[in-house]
Amino acid sequence: MADRCVQLCAPLLLILLSFFFFTGVLTFPLGPDSHRRTTCGYESCHATKPDMLNVHLVPHTHDDVGWLKTVDQYYYGDRNDIQHAGVQYILDSVVDQLLKNPDRRFIYVETAFFYRWWKRQDSSMKQTVQQLVNEGRLEFVNGGWCMSDEATTHYSAVIDQMTMGLRFLNDTFGVCGRPRVAWHIDPFGHAREHASMFAQMGYDGFFFGRLDYQDRYQRMMQKEQELLWRASDSLTPPMADLFTGILPNGYNPPDGFCWDQSCSDPPIRDDPDLEDYNVDDVVKRFLNIASAQSMVYKTNHIIMTMGSDFQYENANLWYKNLDKLIHYVNAQQDLGSRVNVLYSTPSCYLQELHRANLTWALKTDDFFPYADDAHDFWTGYFSSRPALKRYERLSNSNLQTCNQLEVLGGPTSTNGPFGKGDSQTMKKAMAVAQHHDAVSGTEKQHVANDYARRLATGWQHCQVLVSNGLAVLSGSTAQRFYCDYLNISVCPLTESSKKFSVNVYNPLGRPVTWPVRLPVNGTAYAVSDAAGTSVDCQVLPLSKDTHNVRRSRGFAVNELVFEVQAPPLGFSTYSVSLLQDGPLAASTQPRTPTAIQNKFLKVTFDPDTGLLSSFSNLETTQTIKLTQNFYWYNASDGNNSESIQPSGAYIFRPNSSTPFLISSTAKTEFIQTSVVQEVRQWFSPWVSQVVRLYAHSRTLELEWTVGPLPIHDDLGKEVITRIDTSIESSEIFYTDSNGREVLQRKKDFRPTWHLKQSEPIAGNYYPINSRAYIKDDVDQLTVVTDRSQGGSSIHNGSLEIMLHRRLLYDDVRGVAEPLNETSAIFPEGLVVRGRLLLSLDRPASAADKHRPLAQEMVLQPLLTFTDGDLHPDAKLEFSGLQAALPPAVHLLTLTQWDAQSVLLRLEHQFQSWESDVNSKPVTVNLQKLFSSLEVLGVSELNLSANQWKDEMKRFEWTPQNEVKPQLKASGGRSVWEVTLKPMEIRTFLLRVRL
Ligand SMILES: *[C@@H]1O[C@H](CO)[C@@H](O)[C@H](O)[C@H]1NC(C)=O
Ligand SMILES: *[C@@H]1O[C@H](CO)[C@@H](O)[C@H](O)[C@H]1NC(C)=O
Ligand SMILES: [Zn+2]
Repeated sequence: MADRCVQLCAPLLLILLSFFFFTGVLTFPLGPDSHRRTTCGYESCHATKPDMLNVHLVPHTHDDVGWLKTVDQYYYGDRNDIQHAGVQYILDSVVDQLLKNPDRRFIYVETAFFYRWWKRQDSSMKQTVQQLVNEGRLEFVNGGWCMSDEATTHYSAVIDQMTMGLRFLNDTFGVCGRPRVAWHIDPFGHAREHASMFAQMGYDGFFFGRLDYQDRYQRMMQKEQELLWRASDSLTPPMADLFTGILPNGYNPPDGFCWDQSCSDPPIRDDPDLEDYNVDDVVKRFLNIASAQSMVYKTNHIIMTMGSDFQYENANLWYKNLDKLIHYVNAQQDLGSRVNVLYSTPSCYLQELHRANLTWALKTDDFFPYADDAHDFWTGYFSSRPALKRYERLSNSNLQTCNQLEVLGGPTSTNGPFGKGDSQTMKKAMAVAQHHDAVSGTEKQHVANDYARRLATGWQHCQVLVSNGLAVLSGSTAQRFYCDYLNISVCPLTESSKKFSVNVYNPLGRPVTWPVRLPVNGTAYAVSDAAGTSVDCQVLPLSKDTHNVRRSRGFAVNELVFEVQAPPLGFSTYSVSLLQDGPLAASTQPRTPTAIQNKFLKVTFDPDTGLLSSFSNLETTQTIKLTQNFYWYNASDGNNSESIQPSGAYIFRPNSSTPFLISSTAKTEFIQTSVVQEVRQWFSPWVSQVVRLYAHSRTLELEWTVGPLPIHDDLGKEVITRIDTSIESSEIFYTDSNGREVLQRKKDFRPTWHLKQSEPIAGNYYPINSRAYIKDDVDQLTVVTDRSQGGSSIHNGSLEIMLHRRLLYDDVRGVAEPLNETSAIFPEGLVVRGRLLLSLDRPASAADKHRPLAQEMVLQPLLTFTDGDLHPDAKLEFSGLQAALPPAVHLLTLTQWDAQSVLLRLEHQFQSWESDVNSKPVTVNLQKLFSSLEVLGVSELNLSANQWKDEMKRFEWTPQNEVKPQLKASGGRSVWEVTLKPMEIRTFLLRVRL
């Protein structure tokens, strides 16, 4: 009893003293005695003991930027009936508790929340927090606006959301606000491209919680839960090398040590005079866990995540018990214990791993797919909520246009003839939408609606900006109309106007040719381009399926179709006038053509089935057999002898490996015009497709319309399109990672461990963000998608893509809702429409086509409309560039940074091995880039624009069996000459004059 009291009293006294010390200082922050050093970052880490096992306790909270509640409901702690969670209280409480003991540490991750909190604090609280940050007691980790999903996001939107969060931290806290560690503790599988981006953003290391259970077991046995991820096959090491640590228990505390108000583990009861004294038991259990954990990691340092979802709302509970835990465990050292426990952060832990000076296993593939048990593959969310996934992708395109016009249109774009517009609202909406329960489709329905509503509001703000910007550049203040429903042929202006113009804005750095389809009611139109030259146009009858999807939202009977061209980073304006009114005499033929073809491509059809039968590239004289059809997997309902796991928002679990054919034949209609040829295929009341070939296109378009998926048979359905070809792909296929580098996939195979396959379909699904392909020695079939989707190749020569899912059971991963989407317009189930672009090429040159094609799908032209005659002085064509960028270069970002400067990202869009022509370094001159912007100065930044490139210094790590890579500086010939090597992205802040 007595010696326990001695042990207890001394630290209590210290805690009390420090409490008074800090309270005093904070009341007079500028007083003469408050001289404070700035010791954030690695310097602020607590000392460790080299001859002991050091246990780094990391107090943290995992705050989803929307999931069961919307982001703002989570912030305020609203709707606690759904889930008890309030981020504002967490931050209030943590700051309070950090002040009570300078040893305590906390990390904060999601800047979307921190920003909401910060802007409501008074200046004395802001000073207090700044102090905590400066002393490394409150440390930002990851620091993006959200913790993005890794399977369904596109790199361009991820870079933007990281840039926004990290910029806020740098603007607010300066260098002490810069996170050193990337922290993706919850995303459901990990993309190689994310690791590559994090490396280029300057992070020293990366930690995550979820990986395949078989992979984890093997890594535990081999002590390879900490490794060096070489995340690019093209960038020179160590540019894309990222030290990666797998956390011991997801992101939760060890069993029995959760002291949040939401937990029920016993507190440390350390008063020997009271009942249930348990210090000895707690210490013993803790030492056992620490010792077990140290067996599966390499160094004498281990990490424990002391927190979980929305924890620390009443931080006193956690900290009071952690203070005691540290005290009592370390007190055992006097009795010979070799375990040292300390408050820590991921970066302090990382620093110790770095100091260990070991070599680390090298990994070059990725962490997909993720399974947490034999029948529990998290591959459903690759396709969940396909409409939200498309809307998010389209919103990114619109946002990039909005950003560009803010630069090109100058100050008038945000305050001009159409009022005040801004890009900020949409930037935030897009940033929130990257969260791992947002675009992933794993949120509750009301939260999905909230994400979509935010994007729509953002786009309204951008529309004003875009109208102002185009008014500046065209010299015309005619009102601009936006038609957001062109995919279902709804556009009030074109449906009724007799004369209108179409402005085609192209956000790409090279010219684009693009098909335009407008809902109209006339039968003949004249279209002329910016030079007044007439353009071939055709009027087609609206399809029955478009009528069905459109419902009462429009009244066009026809579609006007023509191909437009738009210059790089600019626009071209087309004039349309009605020549003849009245309904169209039907020009569709109720039959299947034997073939459709243009100068470049030919596809044939089987006249008996109405299905595609072959695909030819006429330029390269390649032909493959190709059939394509629609199927559905019958979702497991949980009633199954092997496992009770049902298919749901996260998990894909078909009841059988053989999908049901929806129909072996398609009813067809054929339309042949000089602009486009269409074969409209009708498979069932809920599946139809248009096979389209435009006159000047080198790709075949498959426009699919799927839904409402019938559920009257009580069966959940997961609909795929499957392309079966004569290509000898032998169970190998390729998918992109976040829209950038392509990875090879092989059925029932993982590159780094021996897979015991337990789900022959779901266990072979991978995320497709923008493209997938199969190939053999002579032929490559590439499919470019318009959104993220899951896909696989289950048979030789086959590629399948999941289009839509409708499920009747929750999959028990927390969302607690079946994925059963309906809406006011589609009460009987959502209908989804999308496009796939198919291209057949020689493998050696396929990338030359699919790289630019995928970028055209991602950054598509924006059409705006004006009614009536154009003003005679209006400028009909504009390009913001002096010349098109070289084919290898992609203009990734052009956005206003502050009044004098713009942020520019240029990207080499080819991998080093993929093209004879384009996989070479290219040089661009920044001063000769823009036509309307004078570039006065340039500074280079890291990828996330929160660190100057010349100050960027990362930890160096040594891979096993290799020498430590040395990064050589890549310099251009002058400051204006910028050389890009394959897959390189370079980020610049340009000082400009308009
Ligand atoms: C790290 O290890 C290497 C050899 O394994 C050694 O040459 C080097 O001096 C060590 N560095 C430090 C800082 O201990
Ligand atoms: C970050 O903030 C610091 C301090 O305000 C500033 O000096 C620095 O230029 C900023 N860095 C970047 C990349 O903007
Ligand atoms: Zn989460």
